[in-house]
Amino acid sequence: MDSLTIIKPDDWHLHVRDGDALKDIIPHTAKRFARAIIMPNLKPPVTTTEQAQAYRQRIVDAVPNDIHFQPLMTLYLTDNMPADEINRAKDSGIVFAVKYYPAGATTNSDAGVTDLKKTYAVLERMQQLEMPLLIHGEVTDPNIDVFDREAVFIDTILKPLLKDFPNLKVVLEHITTEQAVDFVMSAPNNIAATITPHHLLYNRNQMFQGGIKPHYYCLPILKREKHRQALIKAATSGNSKFFLGTDSAPHPQSKKETACGCAGMYSAHAAIEMYAEVFDENNALDKLEGFASLYGPEFYRLPVNTDKINLLKQAQTIPASYQFANETLIPLKAGETIQWKLQ
Ligand code: DOR
Ligand code: ZN
Repeated sequence: MDSLTIIKPDDWHLHVRDGDALKDIIPHTAKRFARAIIMPNLKPPVTTTEQAQAYRQRIVDAVPNDIHFQPLMTLYLTDNMPADEINRAKDSGIVFAVKYYPAGATTNSDAGVTDLKKTYAVLERMQQLEMPLLIHGEVTDPNIDVFDREAVFIDTILKPLLKDFPNLKVVLEHITTEQAVDFVMSAPNNIAATITPHHLLYNRNQMFQGGIKPHYYCLPILKREKHRQALIKAATSGNSKFFLGTDSAPHPQSKKETACGCAGMYSAHAAIEMYAEVFDENNALDKLEGFASLYGPEFYRLPVNTDKINLLKQAQTIPASYQFANETLIPLKAGETIQWKLQ
């Protein structure tokens, strides 16, 4: 197959930052995706519906006039979010989920949750109003090996949480392990997961290939090959619990190539093309549309998009860098050739 037409996909996990950087990166997503779930880990974080409304407007203003793109906003869960915020969020019609960062787990998570019990009134309301909880599933205990943090989170935090809130809609975001795949697969239908292009493309060796490679550092960190294989199997299985979420997370070059570099890979510039490459290599192009365009809307109970995109099996070289406000952004696969192209 050398061309593929699919319903225009959505990105169910995206970081677009704020300010001048927006106009440099939003067009990449808007060309490929009709909608995206926008992560709220700004500084300060987006914790109220009012802040989400203002942030949404800044994003909309950065979308080129000739492209139709809908940002789906989220709120950042904190220890002291009032339960009524969930009603305000639901009533606004622009907030579609709440993001849970364990405090200290990743970029701008200092204001995250220190103890889930403190958020139980909010979670109760979310369960009642069918507002999905999007989970960064890693424990933060420095005694737990960084490669085990997701698996330990599932056993020690997620399982007890779901016992207390059996009907809460949950997306385990950017899953990276066989344990997460198995857990989601055997969980009831209110539990789903997103999978990134980078966790499908790379195992942890990539971070150390010929030297230390900061552009392959993200959280959750890349894992062993057997985990990557489990993710590929899940993504290409046609199981509607697994859908597309890029976790494209831009940082300026100066904050990646440094002694204490930020976590995150930027993939928005060629995300659907990279997924197509993985699905093609695994003889599963027929499963791409479900993963990219159908299962997400089904979980979020949103209409499926009506537009289509065409993908061509045609080599393209990824630019070495992009502008990022007054800095430089090094994209995933910078300077490399990939086999699929958006028409
Ligand atoms: O690699 C990551 N980057 N993981 C996250 O959880 C956050 C993200 C970011 O915002 O940079
Ligand atoms: Zn993220």
